[in-house]
Parts: sequence; C-alpha cells; structure tokens
Amino acid sequence: MALHGIIGESRVDNPVTIVIFGATGDLTHRKLIPALFIAYAQGLLPSAFTIVGFARRDYDDETFRGMMGDSIKEFSRLPADEEAVARFVQHIRYHQGDISSFDAYADLKAKFDDTETYPENRLYYLSIIPSLFETAVEYLKTSGLVNNPGAEHWSRVVIEKPFGRDLASATALNAALLKYLDESQIYRIDHYLGKETVQNILSFRFANAIFEPVFNRSYVDHIQITAAETVGMEKGRGGYYDEYGALRDMVTNHLLQLLCLVTMEAPGDLSAESIRNEKVKVLNATSLDIREEISDAVCRGQYSGGTDKNGKPVKGYLQEERIDPSSKTETFAALRLSINNWRWADVPILLRTGKRMAKKTTEIAVQFKVPPLQLFQQVECEGDVCDITHIKPNTLIFQIQPNEGIFLQVGTKRPGMRFVVENVKMDFSYSGTWNKSLPEAYERLLLDALHGDSTLFTRSDEVEAEWRVIQPILDNLEKLKPYSYPPNAWGMPESNWLFHGVKGAWRNR
Ligand code: BG6
Repeated sequence: MALHGIIGESRVDNPVTIVIFGATGDLTHRKLIPALFIAYAQGLLPSAFTIVGFARRDYDDETFRGMMGDSIKEFSRLPADEEAVARFVQHIRYHQGDISSFDAYADLKAKFDDTETYPENRLYYLSIIPSLFETAVEYLKTSGLVNNPGAEHWSRVVIEKPFGRDLASATALNAALLKYLDESQIYRIDHYLGKETVQNILSFRFANAIFEPVFNRSYVDHIQITAAETVGMEKGRGGYYDEYGALRDMVTNHLLQLLCLVTMEAPGDLSAESIRNEKVKVLNATSLDIREEISDAVCRGQYSGGTDKNGKPVKGYLQEERIDPSSKTETFAALRLSINNWRWADVPILLRTGKRMAKKTTEIAVQFKVPPLQLFQQVECEGDVCDITHIKPNTLIFQIQPNEGIFLQVGTKRPGMRFVVENVKMDFSYSGTWNKSLPEAYERLLLDALHGDSTLFTRSDEVEAEWRVIQPILDNLEKLKPYSYPPNAWGMPESNWLFHGVKGAWRNR
C-alpha cells in the first residue's frame, strides 16, 4: 500500500534513467528540469541517475546542459547554488532524434547497453504533442526500451494531458496505450493533483471528524469551483489552445479532479486503487444538471479586446496569434452539474474557468444552508458604508492558489449594543502556519512516479469517466455559441443564469 505523502519525501533508492521526450519544449525548461534539480538538491534522487533529453534539434550534451543550467537558475523555486547546478547538469545527456521515427528509439536502445551510464530502471516522460503518444509508446515497446511489469528493472511512462479530445478518442488512446503497456506502467499527469493544497482536501475532509458529517445534501446548499486566470494566449499557445479550449484544457481534467476530491466518499485505505475507485464512482454519478435545454447547465465565453488591470491594452482572443479569426473555441466555460447519489442529490455543483479574467485564483467554496430560523440581522460593510441584511450562510473555502489556505466564514456578534452579526473568517493559511515555500506540483509528481506511487495520477477509467461528463456539451456545441466577455472581468452576465433557483451567486473576489 502506498502511504502517499510519506513516500514522496523519501529518497529514491534505485538507480534510474529519466528520458524526457520533447526536451527542448517549454515544460522541460520551466518545470521538469527545475523540479528534478530541487529533488536532487534535497538529496531525494538516487546517487546514480541520468537524465536524457530526447528531441529533434541538433544539440550536443554540453549545449543542452548549459541550457538546462540556465533554466534552473531562472525557474528554480529555491535558490540554485552554482556548484550544485554544475554537479546536477553532469547527470544530463542529450539524444538527438525524430520522435516519430523508429530509428531514434533503436539508437537510444543501443546507447542503453552502457548500463553504468544509463541505469536500467527507466522513467519515460512524454512531453510531446498528443498525436505522437501512440507512436512513442509503440516504438518504446517494440525497440525493447520497456520491460514487462514485474521484471527486475521497472519501466514507467508519464503522459502529459490532453488525453484525447472527447470520449471516443480518449477511449481509443487508452486502448492503444494498453496494447503496449500495462496500466500500472502508465502515469497520466494532472498537475493539479500535485498541488499541496489539492492534496490537503482529502486530509482536511477525512482527518477531521467535525466536517464530514455536514458534507452532504442536508447541510450543503451548493458547491462552486473557480479556476480563473489573467493570462491570455501568451507564449504562442494559441495553436494548441484553439484546438482544445477551456472545456478540454481545464474542465475535463483539473476542475473535475477538484470536484472528485471534494465530493468523493472516504476510501477504505490510502492506496492508489482505493482512492481512484472512489473518484471513478463519484464521476460516474455526475452529470450536467439539464432541466430543459443544455444551456440551463452550460455557458461558454470568449474574451474580447480591452485593457488589463493595469490599463494596458490587450488583444481579443480572435486577434491573438495562431487563432482562427472565426474561431468558436471557448476561453471561458461554466457548468452546472449534479451528483446523483445519496450524499449529493439535488446539491448544485457549479464549475467555471476562464482566461483573461479579473484575477488569478483557484478555489472551491462549499456553501452551507442558512439557519432555519433567522434570529439575527447581519451587518455588511464595504469601507465606511454598512448595510443591514439577512444572515449569510457559512462557507468553507479551499483556496488552492494563490494565498493557499482553508477558510471558514462564520457569523459572529459585532461588538456594540446592538445584536447584529458580522461575517468573519476563521483561517488557516500556509504562509502563516509554515514558514517554507510549497513544493511545486511537478516536484511531487516526478518523485511519486520514480517511487511507483500512482495515487496522484489518473487511471484510464477515470479519464473516460471525465469525458463522459463533458461529452453532451461537445455533442451540442452548435447550441452553445460563446458569448463575448471583456478582459479583466469575471466572465459575462449570462453565466449567472446557472444559479437559477440557488441561494447564491458566483464569488467574484
Ligand atoms: C494547464 C493548462 O494544464 O493548466 C493551461 O493547459 C493553464 O491552459 C494551466 O494555464 C493552469 O495551471 P496553474 O497551475 O497555473 O493553475
């Protein structure tokens, strides 16, 4: 049984070769190499390890090492000591080759005969375009680079999303991967699961006795999950994004994973299989909350041009680089879901995500019902202006990023002669409690993959269950034309409609 969280901080003992496919890409340089460096600097990598960057460009080992050293200095979360960086990059090598050609794999296999330099436990990280996943896995297997499960030396393959673009393609991709690999060898990354605050959702729910009894339809009014970003199509992302959009890029993976963690039943133990079984169960019970029309449950948007929060002009989505000027791809998506089980029946679950929004924030807010008897009035102040209103419900907020923490809004008596109640925040913030910077998602996930702990990776049936929730939207895109919204806003007013019949509104803060 994997006791996740303890294993993640222990040293990987066995020598290993880590091969990064697509090694000249942005992910390698911003996330993967800095994350591996931090693991190394903390003494968590084995004494014998080699990192191989595999890509088409014509570099030699030295040039590639220099580039990776620069990436570490620029992106490492912790200060990168020159000497440590110099020692670390000596473990890096470059393999030039075309990922779509079998010969490049045969050449790599020949290099791997030198098992001193290239230890035989192997982690292959596919940071490549999705259309090459199947080819890469096929050639890895047919060239003999992958051992069977149970062999003396393990072989594991990490795959970056997107896992398909709809239910049919995700199912086909899973089937293709499983032709060459065993499920236990496939590590599908959803980097949200590597975030410290996301992992804390399970600990918070199941290590405390006082919240779980009220986490159900008797006490919860609704749940809303927001992942808002201020960025648009920076760094030439347009080409990828226009093909996928917010639903496929964020909702089908990150947002549904957050939903799973906050609504799933307690697993029997902490093994990867038990946790993932519970996630699949709750996903299978989840569907769009359609009353009459699909638009009752889904709202899509696309940002227009305008100014950002600093007053700087920003382009509209259709004017961005590598975007089809007549594109109907959504940059904002809001959904209303229902979970058809005993715990959550009739509790609206609202999800939204968007680019170029007013603020970068990711949070889950669980809003409780108001007390049955309204004994008090509530005072609400904004600056000097105060209003007397009805009592506000308690809300439990998992603030995933930034200002990571967990907050509970409760009503308390305001000091003074009158009996009025004011909302205050009981809070736990990471920065106020632990004086250390939080590990990056990729640090945790890479170490977990090296340890063979798949708890924080998505299983094939989980991926298919996620697409099953979203598929009705993909089948009805014609009826769901995107509305336009200005930059630096919280989407558009049409998304408020999803709250019909709910005592609440989007938390735009
Ligand atoms: C990625 C998406 O998976 O997550 C991006 O492809 C998005 O479009 C990013 O910007 C958001 O991640 P984070 O960790 O910044 O919330």
